Amino acid sequence: MKKGIELYSFKEIDKIKTACKVVAEILQTVAENIKPGISTWDIEMIVREEAKKRGAKPAFLNYKPPFSSKSYPAATCISVNEEVVHGLPKKDKVISEGDLVSVDFGAIINGYAGDSAITVAVGNIGEEKSRLLTATKLALERAVEKAVAGNWLSDIVNSIHSTAEEFKVFPVLKYGGHGIGKRIHEEPFVPNNRKDLGKKDLKLKQGMVIAIEPMFALGTEETLQDGDGWTVKTKDKSPAAHFEHTVAVTREGAIVLTEL
Ligand code: MF3
Ligand code: CO
Repeated sequence: MKKGIELYSFKEIDKIKTACKVVAEILQTVAENIKPGISTWDIEMIVREEAKKRGAKPAFLNYKPPFSSKSYPAATCISVNEEVVHGLPKKDKVISEGDLVSVDFGAIINGYAGDSAITVAVGNIGEEKSRLLTATKLALERAVEKAVAGNWLSDIVNSIHSTAEEFKVFPVLKYGGHGIGKRIHEEPFVPNNRKDLGKKDLKLKQGMVIAIEPMFALGTEETLQDGDGWTVKTKDKSPAAHFEHTVAVTREGAIVLTEL
Protein backbone atom coordinates (compact mmCIF):
# COMPACT_ATOMS: atom_id res chain seq x y z
CA MET A 1 0.00 0.00 0.00
CA LYS A 2 1.18 3.50 -0.79
CA LYS A 3 2.40 5.38 2.23
CA GLY A 4 1.06 8.70 3.38
CA ILE A 5 -2.05 10.74 2.83
CA GLU A 6 -3.20 11.72 -0.65
CA LEU A 7 -3.96 15.39 -1.31
CA TYR A 8 -6.50 15.97 -4.08
CA SER A 9 -6.82 18.97 -6.39
CA PHE A 10 -10.22 20.63 -6.89
CA LYS A 11 -10.39 18.93 -10.26
CA GLU A 12 -9.97 15.54 -8.61
CA ILE A 13 -12.41 16.46 -5.83
CA ASP A 14 -14.95 17.11 -8.58
CA LYS A 15 -14.40 13.57 -9.85
CA ILE A 16 -14.78 12.13 -6.36
CA LYS A 17 -17.96 14.19 -6.09
CA THR A 18 -19.39 12.52 -9.21
CA ALA A 19 -19.10 9.12 -7.50
CA CYS A 20 -20.39 10.56 -4.22
CA LYS A 21 -23.54 12.02 -5.84
CA VAL A 22 -24.45 8.64 -7.24
CA VAL A 23 -23.94 7.05 -3.82
CA ALA A 24 -26.22 9.67 -2.26
CA GLU A 25 -28.92 9.13 -4.89
CA ILE A 26 -28.83 5.38 -4.42
CA LEU A 27 -29.01 5.63 -0.63
CA GLN A 28 -32.02 7.89 -1.00
CA THR A 29 -33.74 5.27 -3.14
CA VAL A 30 -32.86 2.66 -0.52
CA ALA A 31 -34.36 4.78 2.28
CA GLU A 32 -37.63 5.02 0.32
CA ASN A 33 -37.73 1.23 -0.10
CA ILE A 34 -36.99 0.01 3.41
CA LYS A 35 -40.25 -1.40 4.78
CA PRO A 36 -41.20 -4.28 7.06
CA GLY A 37 -40.98 -7.54 5.09
CA ILE A 38 -38.07 -6.56 2.81
CA SER A 39 -34.90 -8.64 3.27
CA THR A 40 -31.42 -7.16 3.41
CA TRP A 41 -30.66 -9.17 0.26
CA ASP A 42 -33.60 -7.42 -1.51
CA ILE A 43 -31.97 -4.10 -0.57
CA GLU A 44 -28.64 -5.36 -1.96
CA MET A 45 -30.40 -6.17 -5.27
CA ILE A 46 -31.99 -2.69 -5.47
CA VAL A 47 -28.57 -1.12 -4.92
CA ARG A 48 -26.86 -3.26 -7.58
CA GLU A 49 -29.54 -2.37 -10.10
CA GLU A 50 -29.43 1.36 -9.32
CA ALA A 51 -25.63 1.33 -9.59
CA LYS A 52 -25.77 -0.45 -12.94
CA LYS A 53 -28.26 2.10 -14.31
CA ARG A 54 -25.82 4.87 -13.47
CA GLY A 55 -22.66 3.16 -14.73
CA ALA A 56 -21.22 3.01 -11.21
CA LYS A 57 -19.08 0.14 -9.98
CA PRO A 58 -19.97 -1.02 -6.46
CA ALA A 59 -16.80 -0.38 -4.48
CA PHE A 60 -17.19 -3.07 -1.82
CA LEU A 61 -18.17 -6.00 -4.08
CA ASN A 62 -15.18 -8.39 -4.30
CA TYR A 63 -13.01 -5.82 -2.54
CA LYS A 64 -10.51 -6.98 0.06
CA PRO A 65 -10.45 -4.36 2.80
CA PRO A 66 -7.18 -3.79 4.68
CA PHE A 67 -8.75 -5.21 7.86
CA SER A 68 -9.66 -8.58 6.29
CA SER A 69 -7.95 -11.52 4.62
CA LYS A 70 -10.84 -12.17 2.23
CA SER A 71 -12.90 -10.23 -0.30
CA TYR A 72 -16.29 -8.85 0.60
CA PRO A 73 -19.06 -10.67 -1.34
CA ALA A 74 -21.66 -7.87 -1.62
CA ALA A 75 -22.16 -4.28 -2.80
CA THR A 76 -23.66 -3.11 0.47
CA CYS A 77 -23.12 -3.52 4.18
CA ILE A 78 -26.50 -3.67 5.90
CA SER A 79 -26.39 -3.72 9.68
CA VAL A 80 -29.64 -4.16 11.62
CA ASN A 81 -30.19 -3.30 15.31
CA GLU A 82 -27.28 -4.83 17.33
CA GLU A 83 -25.24 -5.13 14.14
CA VAL A 84 -22.84 -2.19 14.01
CA VAL A 85 -21.10 -2.35 10.65
CA HIS A 86 -20.15 -4.67 7.75
CA GLY A 87 -23.48 -6.50 7.97
CA LEU A 88 -23.58 -9.04 5.18
CA PRO A 89 -26.89 -8.89 3.27
CA LYS A 90 -28.87 -12.13 3.58
CA LYS A 91 -32.08 -13.50 2.06
CA ASP A 92 -33.35 -14.64 5.45
CA LYS A 93 -32.63 -11.36 7.25
CA VAL A 94 -36.03 -9.71 7.06
CA ILE A 95 -36.75 -6.17 8.27
CA SER A 96 -39.46 -5.59 10.90
CA GLU A 97 -41.23 -2.60 12.38
CA GLY A 98 -39.02 -0.98 15.02
CA ASP A 99 -35.72 -1.92 13.37
CA LEU A 100 -32.74 0.37 12.95
CA VAL A 101 -31.23 -0.40 9.55
CA SER A 102 -27.83 0.96 8.55
CA VAL A 103 -27.02 0.78 4.85
CA ASP A 104 -23.44 1.51 3.80
CA PHE A 105 -22.56 1.81 0.12
CA GLY A 106 -19.54 2.85 -1.90
CA ALA A 107 -19.21 3.39 -5.65
CA ILE A 108 -16.41 3.99 -8.12
CA ILE A 109 -16.84 6.11 -11.26
CA ASN A 110 -13.93 6.93 -13.58
CA GLY A 111 -11.42 5.71 -11.01
CA TYR A 112 -12.69 7.78 -8.07
CA ALA A 113 -14.64 6.51 -5.08
CA GLY A 114 -17.44 7.76 -2.86
CA ASP A 115 -18.67 6.18 0.40
CA SER A 116 -21.68 6.94 2.56
CA ALA A 117 -23.99 5.33 5.09
CA ILE A 118 -27.41 6.09 6.49
CA THR A 119 -29.42 4.54 9.31
CA VAL A 120 -33.12 4.24 8.63
CA ALA A 121 -35.75 3.95 11.38
CA VAL A 122 -38.45 1.46 10.41
CA GLY A 123 -41.74 2.78 11.80
CA ASN A 124 -41.84 3.43 15.53
CA ILE A 125 -38.42 2.65 17.03
CA GLY A 126 -39.08 3.88 20.57
CA GLU A 127 -37.33 6.41 22.75
CA GLU A 128 -33.91 4.83 23.28
CA LYS A 129 -33.26 3.96 19.66
CA SER A 130 -34.45 7.46 18.71
CA ARG A 131 -31.92 9.00 21.08
CA LEU A 132 -29.20 6.82 19.57
CA LEU A 133 -30.19 7.78 16.02
CA THR A 134 -30.31 11.51 16.83
CA ALA A 135 -26.91 11.35 18.54
CA THR A 136 -25.20 9.53 15.70
CA LYS A 137 -26.60 11.83 13.02
CA LEU A 138 -25.71 14.94 15.01
CA ALA A 139 -22.20 13.58 15.63
CA LEU A 140 -21.65 13.35 11.89
CA GLU A 141 -22.96 16.87 11.27
CA ARG A 142 -20.74 18.31 13.99
CA ALA A 143 -17.68 16.31 12.94
CA VAL A 144 -18.05 17.50 9.35
CA GLU A 145 -17.79 21.12 10.58
CA LYS A 146 -14.36 20.28 12.01
CA ALA A 147 -13.00 19.04 8.68
CA VAL A 148 -11.26 22.32 7.88
CA ALA A 149 -7.61 22.81 6.91
CA GLY A 150 -5.60 23.82 9.97
CA ASN A 151 -7.75 21.83 12.39
CA TRP A 152 -6.54 18.53 13.83
CA LEU A 153 -7.79 15.00 13.35
CA SER A 154 -8.35 15.00 17.11
CA ASP A 155 -10.88 17.85 16.68
CA ILE A 156 -13.01 15.44 14.65
CA VAL A 157 -12.52 12.54 17.06
CA ASN A 158 -13.22 14.65 20.16
CA SER A 159 -16.32 16.11 18.55
CA ILE A 160 -17.69 12.63 17.81
CA HIS A 161 -16.80 11.20 21.21
CA SER A 162 -18.22 14.22 23.10
CA THR A 163 -21.51 13.99 21.23
CA ALA A 164 -21.79 10.34 22.24
CA GLU A 165 -21.16 11.32 25.87
CA GLU A 166 -23.72 14.11 25.70
CA PHE A 167 -26.41 11.61 24.64
CA LYS A 168 -25.16 8.84 26.98
CA VAL A 169 -24.36 6.44 24.15
CA PHE A 170 -21.04 4.79 23.24
CA PRO A 171 -18.68 5.43 20.31
CA VAL A 172 -17.53 1.97 19.20
CA LEU A 173 -13.88 1.03 19.42
CA LYS A 174 -11.73 -0.07 16.44
CA TYR A 175 -14.11 0.95 13.64
CA GLY A 176 -14.08 4.38 12.05
CA GLY A 177 -13.62 6.54 9.00
CA HIS A 178 -10.79 6.72 6.51
CA GLY A 179 -9.16 8.64 3.73
CA ILE A 180 -10.80 8.03 0.34
CA GLY A 181 -10.35 9.06 -3.29
CA LYS A 182 -8.57 6.83 -5.75
CA ARG A 183 -9.18 3.95 -3.38
CA ILE A 184 -12.03 3.28 -1.00
CA HIS A 185 -9.76 3.00 2.04
CA GLU A 186 -6.79 5.32 2.25
CA GLU A 187 -4.92 6.85 5.13
CA PRO A 188 -5.64 8.27 7.66
CA PHE A 189 -7.83 6.18 9.96
CA VAL A 190 -10.49 8.45 11.47
CA PRO A 191 -11.44 6.99 14.88
CA ASN A 192 -14.80 7.45 16.57
CA ASN A 193 -13.44 6.76 20.04
CA ARG A 194 -10.66 8.81 21.69
CA LYS A 195 -8.94 5.61 22.84
CA ASP A 196 -8.24 4.73 19.22
CA LEU A 197 -6.46 8.01 18.57
CA GLY A 198 -4.03 7.59 21.44
CA LYS A 199 -1.21 10.11 21.28
CA LYS A 200 -1.18 10.20 17.48
CA ASP A 201 -2.56 13.30 15.85
CA LEU A 202 -2.51 14.90 12.47
CA LYS A 203 -3.07 18.35 11.03
CA LEU A 204 -5.81 18.49 8.41
CA LYS A 205 -4.71 19.89 5.07
CA GLN A 206 -6.40 21.37 2.02
CA GLY A 207 -7.12 18.52 -0.41
CA MET A 208 -7.56 15.71 2.10
CA VAL A 209 -10.69 13.70 1.41
CA ILE A 210 -12.01 11.64 4.29
CA ALA A 211 -14.99 9.48 5.08
CA ILE A 212 -16.28 10.36 8.55
CA GLU A 213 -18.46 7.60 9.97
CA PRO A 214 -19.66 7.74 13.57
CA MET A 215 -20.95 4.41 14.90
CA PHE A 216 -22.65 4.57 18.27
CA ALA A 217 -24.20 1.89 20.45
CA LEU A 218 -26.67 2.17 23.33
CA GLY A 219 -24.87 0.01 25.85
CA THR A 220 -21.18 -0.52 25.10
CA GLU A 221 -18.18 0.55 23.05
CA GLU A 222 -17.19 -3.08 22.52
CA THR A 223 -18.00 -5.26 19.53
CA LEU A 224 -17.66 -8.87 18.38
CA GLN A 225 -17.51 -10.36 14.91
CA ASP A 226 -20.32 -12.65 13.83
CA GLY A 227 -19.89 -16.21 12.56
CA ASP A 228 -20.33 -15.06 8.92
CA GLY A 229 -16.85 -13.54 9.13
CA TRP A 230 -18.05 -9.97 8.42
CA THR A 231 -20.99 -8.73 10.45
CA VAL A 232 -19.83 -6.78 13.53
CA LYS A 233 -22.21 -6.73 16.50
CA THR A 234 -22.26 -4.95 19.84
CA LYS A 235 -20.89 -7.15 22.61
CA ASP A 236 -23.99 -6.63 24.77
CA LYS A 237 -26.40 -6.93 21.79
CA SER A 238 -27.62 -3.37 22.33
CA PRO A 239 -28.65 -1.48 19.16
CA ALA A 240 -26.22 0.60 17.13
CA ALA A 241 -26.48 3.36 14.53
CA HIS A 242 -24.11 4.53 11.80
CA PHE A 243 -23.93 7.54 9.48
CA GLU A 244 -21.18 8.33 6.99
CA HIS A 245 -20.28 11.13 4.59
CA THR A 246 -17.34 11.57 2.27
CA VAL A 247 -15.94 15.04 2.95
CA ALA A 248 -13.30 17.23 1.29
CA VAL A 249 -11.11 19.34 3.59
CA THR A 250 -10.45 22.86 2.31
CA ARG A 251 -9.12 26.08 3.83
CA GLU A 252 -12.58 27.59 3.44
CA GLY A 253 -14.28 24.69 5.21
CA ALA A 254 -15.61 21.21 4.74
CA ILE A 255 -17.37 20.17 1.54
CA VAL A 256 -19.80 17.29 2.05
CA LEU A 257 -19.56 15.35 -1.21
CA THR A 258 -22.16 12.64 -0.51
CA GLU A 259 -25.07 15.05 -0.39
CA LEU A 260 -27.70 15.58 -3.07
N1 MF3 B 1 -17.87 1.74 4.22
C1 MF3 B 1 -17.23 0.60 4.82
C2 MF3 B 1 -16.15 1.11 5.69
O1 MF3 B 1 -15.57 2.11 5.37
C3 MF3 B 1 -16.63 -0.26 3.78
C4 MF3 B 1 -16.70 -1.66 4.10
S1 MF3 B 1 -15.64 -2.51 3.07
C5 MF3 B 1 -16.25 -4.03 3.02
O2 MF3 B 1 -15.88 0.52 6.70
F1 MF3 B 1 -15.50 -4.68 2.24
F2 MF3 B 1 -16.31 -4.53 4.24
F3 MF3 B 1 -17.45 -3.92 2.55
CO1 CO C 1 -16.37 4.10 4.89
